[in-house]
Amino acid sequence: MPPTALVTGASSGIGDAFARILAARGTDLVLTARRSDRLAALASELRAAHHCAVDVLIADLGTPQGRQLVASTLTHRTIDLLVNNAGLGVYAPVAETDPDVLDAMVQLNVLAVVHLTRAALPRMLERGTGTIINVASGLAFDPTPTRATYSGTKAFVVNFTRAVHEEVRDQGVRLQALIPGLIRTEFHDHSGTDLDAVPASWLMDPTDLADASLTGLDLGEVVCVPALPNTAQLAAALTRQSDLTRALVTNGTPADRYLPPTR
Ligand SMILES: NC(=O)c1ccc[n+]([C@@H]2O[C@H](COP(=O)([O-])OP(=O)(O)OC[C@H]3O[C@@H](n4cnc5c(N)ncnc54)[C@H](OP(=O)(O)O)[C@@H]3O)[C@@H](O)[C@H]2O)c1
Repeated sequence: MPPTALVTGASSGIGDAFARILAARGTDLVLTARRSDRLAALASELRAAHHCAVDVLIADLGTPQGRQLVASTLTHRTIDLLVNNAGLGVYAPVAETDPDVLDAMVQLNVLAVVHLTRAALPRMLERGTGTIINVASGLAFDPTPTRATYSGTKAFVVNFTRAVHEEVRDQGVRLQALIPGLIRTEFHDHSGTDLDAVPASWLMDPTDLADASLTGLDLGEVVCVPALPNTAQLAAALTRQSDLTRALVTNGTPADRYLPPTR
Protein backbone atom coordinates (compact mmCIF):
# COMPACT_ATOMS: atom_id res chain seq x y z
CA MET A 1 0.00 0.00 0.00
CA PRO A 2 1.42 3.45 -0.88
CA PRO A 3 1.55 6.01 1.91
CA THR A 4 -1.20 8.62 2.13
CA ALA A 5 -0.70 12.34 2.81
CA LEU A 6 -3.34 14.89 3.74
CA VAL A 7 -2.40 18.41 2.61
CA THR A 8 -4.38 21.46 3.74
CA GLY A 9 -4.39 24.56 1.56
CA ALA A 10 -3.68 22.41 -1.49
CA SER A 11 -5.54 24.68 -3.92
CA SER A 12 -2.55 26.98 -4.47
CA GLY A 13 1.02 27.89 -3.62
CA ILE A 14 2.98 25.77 -1.16
CA GLY A 15 0.17 23.22 -0.62
CA ASP A 16 -0.17 22.70 -4.36
CA ALA A 17 3.61 22.18 -4.55
CA PHE A 18 3.57 19.60 -1.73
CA ALA A 19 0.74 17.75 -3.49
CA ARG A 20 2.61 17.60 -6.82
CA ILE A 21 5.88 16.43 -5.26
CA LEU A 22 4.21 13.81 -3.08
CA ALA A 23 2.13 12.45 -5.98
CA ALA A 24 5.28 12.17 -8.11
CA ARG A 25 6.85 10.15 -5.29
CA GLY A 26 3.95 7.67 -5.36
CA THR A 27 1.98 8.99 -2.38
CA ASP A 28 -1.82 8.84 -2.34
CA LEU A 29 -3.41 12.14 -1.37
CA VAL A 30 -6.27 13.79 0.43
CA LEU A 31 -6.33 17.42 -0.71
CA THR A 32 -8.29 20.00 1.18
CA ALA A 33 -9.15 23.72 0.82
CA ARG A 34 -12.25 25.79 0.03
CA ARG A 35 -11.92 26.25 -3.76
CA SER A 36 -13.43 23.06 -5.16
CA ASP A 37 -12.67 23.89 -8.82
CA ARG A 38 -8.94 24.22 -8.15
CA LEU A 39 -8.80 21.04 -6.07
CA ALA A 40 -10.80 19.03 -8.63
CA ALA A 41 -8.49 20.16 -11.46
CA LEU A 42 -5.35 19.34 -9.46
CA ALA A 43 -6.73 15.96 -8.40
CA SER A 44 -7.54 14.97 -12.02
CA GLU A 45 -4.12 16.09 -13.21
CA LEU A 46 -2.28 14.14 -10.51
CA ARG A 47 -4.36 10.98 -10.95
CA ALA A 48 -3.66 11.03 -14.70
CA ALA A 49 0.05 11.81 -14.36
CA HIS A 50 0.97 9.54 -11.47
CA HIS A 51 -1.86 6.97 -11.19
CA CYS A 52 -2.19 7.77 -7.48
CA ALA A 53 -5.44 7.92 -5.51
CA VAL A 54 -6.45 11.53 -4.84
CA ASP A 55 -9.47 12.45 -2.72
CA VAL A 56 -10.75 15.99 -2.41
CA LEU A 57 -12.20 17.37 0.79
CA ILE A 58 -13.81 20.80 0.63
CA ALA A 59 -13.57 22.45 4.05
CA ASP A 60 -13.29 25.92 5.52
CA LEU A 61 -10.71 25.48 8.28
CA GLY A 62 -11.66 28.89 9.62
CA THR A 63 -14.83 27.31 11.01
CA PRO A 64 -15.38 24.64 13.69
CA GLN A 65 -17.44 22.60 11.19
CA GLY A 66 -14.67 22.65 8.57
CA ARG A 67 -12.03 21.68 11.12
CA GLN A 68 -14.27 18.86 12.38
CA LEU A 69 -14.75 17.52 8.86
CA VAL A 70 -11.00 17.26 8.21
CA ALA A 71 -10.30 16.04 11.76
CA SER A 72 -12.77 13.23 11.25
CA THR A 73 -10.87 12.07 8.13
CA LEU A 74 -7.66 12.07 10.15
CA THR A 75 -9.36 10.04 12.86
CA HIS A 76 -10.91 7.45 10.59
CA ARG A 77 -8.36 7.02 7.79
CA THR A 78 -4.74 5.96 7.85
CA ILE A 79 -2.79 9.13 7.09
CA ASP A 80 0.99 8.80 7.07
CA LEU A 81 1.80 12.48 6.51
CA LEU A 82 -0.25 15.51 7.52
CA VAL A 83 0.82 18.84 6.05
CA ASN A 84 -0.85 21.65 7.99
CA ASN A 85 -0.19 24.28 5.34
CA ALA A 86 -3.36 26.40 4.95
CA GLY A 87 -2.72 29.87 6.32
CA LEU A 88 -3.59 33.52 5.97
CA GLY A 89 -1.62 36.71 6.54
CA VAL A 90 -3.18 40.16 6.40
CA TYR A 91 -0.69 42.90 7.20
CA ALA A 92 -1.99 46.08 8.87
CA PRO A 93 -1.84 47.66 12.33
CA VAL A 94 -4.04 45.75 14.78
CA ALA A 95 -6.03 48.87 15.72
CA GLU A 96 -6.93 49.37 12.06
CA THR A 97 -7.80 45.76 11.20
CA ASP A 98 -11.33 44.38 11.13
CA PRO A 99 -11.61 42.12 14.22
CA ASP A 100 -13.11 39.40 12.00
CA VAL A 101 -9.91 39.37 9.95
CA LEU A 102 -7.78 38.97 13.08
CA ASP A 103 -10.12 36.20 14.17
CA ALA A 104 -9.82 34.48 10.78
CA MET A 105 -6.02 34.42 11.07
CA VAL A 106 -6.14 32.88 14.54
CA GLN A 107 -8.80 30.32 13.57
CA LEU A 108 -6.87 29.17 10.52
CA ASN A 109 -3.23 29.59 11.51
CA VAL A 110 -3.60 28.41 15.11
CA LEU A 111 -6.81 26.49 15.81
CA ALA A 112 -6.74 24.43 12.62
CA VAL A 113 -3.13 23.39 13.28
CA VAL A 114 -3.94 22.40 16.87
CA HIS A 115 -7.15 20.54 16.05
CA LEU A 116 -5.77 18.65 13.06
CA THR A 117 -2.55 17.72 14.86
CA ARG A 118 -4.61 16.48 17.80
CA ALA A 119 -6.87 14.49 15.48
CA ALA A 120 -3.97 12.85 13.61
CA LEU A 121 -1.78 11.90 16.58
CA PRO A 122 -3.66 9.00 18.23
CA ARG A 123 -3.75 6.87 15.10
CA MET A 124 -0.12 7.69 14.28
CA LEU A 125 0.94 6.80 17.83
CA GLU A 126 -1.08 3.59 17.72
CA ARG A 127 0.72 2.60 14.49
CA GLY A 128 4.09 3.82 15.80
CA THR A 129 4.70 5.87 12.67
CA GLY A 130 3.62 9.16 11.12
CA THR A 131 4.78 12.65 10.25
CA ILE A 132 3.25 16.10 10.66
CA ILE A 133 4.63 19.17 8.89
CA ASN A 134 3.28 22.46 10.24
CA VAL A 135 3.97 25.43 7.99
CA ALA A 136 5.05 28.43 10.08
CA SER A 137 6.93 31.53 8.83
CA GLY A 138 10.14 33.48 9.31
CA LEU A 139 7.91 36.11 10.92
CA ALA A 140 7.53 33.69 13.85
CA PHE A 141 10.91 35.06 14.98
CA ASP A 142 10.18 38.71 14.16
CA PRO A 143 7.31 40.59 15.90
CA THR A 144 7.17 43.35 13.30
CA PRO A 145 4.56 46.17 13.26
CA THR A 146 1.62 45.40 10.90
CA ARG A 147 2.41 41.68 11.25
CA ALA A 148 1.49 41.39 14.95
CA THR A 149 -1.27 38.80 14.71
CA TYR A 150 0.29 36.86 11.85
CA SER A 151 3.68 36.78 13.58
CA GLY A 152 2.04 35.69 16.84
CA THR A 153 0.15 32.85 15.17
CA LYS A 154 3.30 31.58 13.48
CA ALA A 155 5.34 31.80 16.70
CA PHE A 156 2.61 29.62 18.18
CA VAL A 157 3.03 27.10 15.35
CA VAL A 158 6.79 26.85 15.95
CA ASN A 159 6.53 26.41 19.73
CA PHE A 160 3.56 24.03 19.46
CA THR A 161 5.32 21.88 16.87
CA ARG A 162 8.62 21.72 18.75
CA ALA A 163 6.89 20.78 21.99
CA VAL A 164 4.65 18.10 20.46
CA HIS A 165 7.67 16.68 18.65
CA GLU A 166 9.37 16.21 22.01
CA GLU A 167 6.22 14.55 23.39
CA VAL A 168 6.08 11.88 20.68
CA ARG A 169 9.60 11.52 19.29
CA ASP A 170 10.29 8.24 21.08
CA GLN A 171 7.06 6.72 19.74
CA GLY A 172 7.90 6.77 16.03
CA VAL A 173 6.05 10.00 15.21
CA ARG A 174 7.88 13.15 14.16
CA LEU A 175 6.93 16.74 13.56
CA GLN A 176 8.52 19.53 11.58
CA ALA A 177 7.95 23.28 11.77
CA LEU A 178 8.65 24.54 8.26
CA ILE A 179 9.88 28.13 8.13
CA PRO A 180 9.36 29.73 4.72
CA GLY A 181 10.93 33.12 3.98
CA LEU A 182 9.40 34.90 1.00
CA ILE A 183 7.72 32.41 -1.31
CA ARG A 184 6.26 33.28 -4.71
CA THR A 185 2.53 32.48 -4.11
CA GLU A 186 -0.92 34.07 -3.96
CA PHE A 187 -0.37 34.61 -0.23
CA HIS A 188 0.91 38.08 -1.04
CA ASP A 189 -2.37 39.04 -2.76
CA HIS A 190 -3.91 38.86 0.74
CA SER A 191 -0.94 40.15 2.73
CA GLY A 192 -0.65 43.25 0.58
CA THR A 193 3.06 42.72 -0.18
CA ASP A 194 4.06 43.92 -3.64
CA LEU A 195 6.32 41.15 -4.89
CA ASP A 196 7.43 43.33 -7.82
CA ALA A 197 9.14 45.58 -5.27
CA VAL A 198 11.09 42.66 -3.82
CA PRO A 199 14.43 41.63 -5.39
CA ALA A 200 13.85 38.45 -7.38
CA SER A 201 16.73 36.73 -5.56
CA TRP A 202 14.80 37.04 -2.26
CA LEU A 203 11.90 34.96 -3.55
CA MET A 204 11.82 31.17 -3.29
CA ASP A 205 9.81 28.93 -5.54
CA PRO A 206 7.13 26.93 -3.63
CA THR A 207 8.37 23.69 -5.20
CA ASP A 208 11.91 24.32 -3.91
CA LEU A 209 10.46 24.99 -0.45
CA ALA A 210 8.35 21.82 -0.35
CA ASP A 211 11.24 19.74 -1.70
CA ALA A 212 13.55 21.14 0.98
CA SER A 213 10.98 20.39 3.69
CA LEU A 214 10.83 16.72 2.70
CA THR A 215 14.64 16.55 2.54
CA GLY A 216 14.68 18.26 5.95
CA LEU A 217 12.60 15.37 7.31
CA ASP A 218 15.27 12.95 6.12
CA LEU A 219 17.88 15.15 7.81
CA GLY A 220 15.88 15.04 11.05
CA GLU A 221 15.24 18.79 11.08
CA VAL A 222 12.47 19.63 13.56
CA VAL A 223 12.71 23.31 12.63
CA CYS A 224 13.38 23.43 8.89
CA VAL A 225 14.57 26.73 7.43
CA PRO A 226 15.28 26.09 3.74
CA ALA A 227 16.72 29.57 3.09
CA LEU A 228 19.26 29.34 5.94
CA PRO A 229 22.68 28.07 4.80
CA ASN A 230 24.09 27.77 8.33
CA THR A 231 21.97 25.62 10.67
CA ALA A 232 24.34 26.50 13.56
CA GLN A 233 22.78 30.00 13.47
CA LEU A 234 19.34 28.48 14.06
CA ALA A 235 20.60 26.14 16.79
CA ALA A 236 22.25 29.08 18.58
CA ALA A 237 19.05 31.18 18.41
CA LEU A 238 16.92 28.34 19.79
CA THR A 239 19.46 27.66 22.55
CA ARG A 240 19.42 31.34 23.57
CA GLN A 241 15.61 31.13 23.94
CA SER A 242 15.88 28.02 26.14
CA ASP A 243 18.64 29.63 28.24
CA LEU A 244 16.40 32.67 28.81
CA THR A 245 13.53 30.50 30.01
CA ARG A 246 15.80 28.43 32.25
CA ALA A 247 17.19 31.61 33.83
CA LEU A 248 13.73 32.91 34.70
CA VAL A 249 12.10 29.70 35.93
CA THR A 250 14.97 28.90 38.27
CA ASN A 251 14.86 32.21 40.13
CA GLY A 252 11.91 33.17 42.35
CA THR A 253 13.31 36.56 43.37
CA PRO A 254 12.58 39.74 41.37
CA ALA A 255 15.74 41.28 39.96
CA ASP A 256 17.29 44.27 41.78
CA ARG A 257 15.84 46.83 39.37
CA TYR A 258 12.34 46.00 40.66
CA LEU A 259 13.21 46.64 44.31
CA PRO A 260 11.52 49.72 45.82
CA PRO A 261 13.87 52.74 45.78
CA THR A 262 15.75 53.23 49.06
CA ARG A 263 15.27 56.63 50.74
N1 LIG B 1 4.13 32.79 0.58
C1 LIG B 1 4.96 33.18 1.56
O1 LIG B 1 5.85 34.05 1.36
C2 LIG B 1 4.86 32.57 2.92
C3 LIG B 1 5.84 32.91 3.86
C4 LIG B 1 5.78 32.35 5.12
C5 LIG B 1 4.78 31.44 5.43
N2 LIG B 1 3.83 31.13 4.50
C6 LIG B 1 2.78 30.17 4.91
O2 LIG B 1 2.67 29.17 3.93
C7 LIG B 1 1.36 28.61 3.97
C8 LIG B 1 0.80 28.47 2.58
O3 LIG B 1 0.67 29.75 2.00
P1 LIG B 1 0.94 30.05 0.47
O4 LIG B 1 2.09 30.95 0.39
O5 LIG B 1 0.95 28.80 -0.31
O6 LIG B 1 -0.36 30.93 0.16
P2 LIG B 1 -1.61 30.70 -0.81
O7 LIG B 1 -1.16 30.41 -2.18
O8 LIG B 1 -2.49 31.88 -0.57
O9 LIG B 1 -2.29 29.39 -0.23
C9 LIG B 1 -3.04 29.39 0.95
C10 LIG B 1 -3.86 28.12 0.98
O10 LIG B 1 -4.63 28.10 2.18
C11 LIG B 1 -5.98 27.83 1.85
N3 LIG B 1 -6.89 28.50 2.77
C12 LIG B 1 -6.97 29.83 3.03
N4 LIG B 1 -7.97 30.08 3.89
C13 LIG B 1 -8.54 28.86 4.17
C14 LIG B 1 -9.62 28.46 4.97
N5 LIG B 1 -10.36 29.34 5.68
N6 LIG B 1 -9.94 27.14 5.02
C15 LIG B 1 -9.21 26.24 4.32
N7 LIG B 1 -8.18 26.56 3.53
C16 LIG B 1 -7.85 27.85 3.44
C17 LIG B 1 -6.18 28.37 0.44
O11 LIG B 1 -7.21 27.66 -0.22
P3 LIG B 1 -8.71 28.18 -0.47
O12 LIG B 1 -8.64 29.66 -0.64
O13 LIG B 1 -9.10 27.44 -1.69
O14 LIG B 1 -9.45 27.75 0.74
C18 LIG B 1 -4.83 28.04 -0.18
O15 LIG B 1 -4.85 26.74 -0.71
C19 LIG B 1 0.56 29.50 4.90
O16 LIG B 1 0.45 28.89 6.16
C20 LIG B 1 1.40 30.75 5.01
O17 LIG B 1 1.19 31.43 6.23
C21 LIG B 1 3.85 31.66 3.26
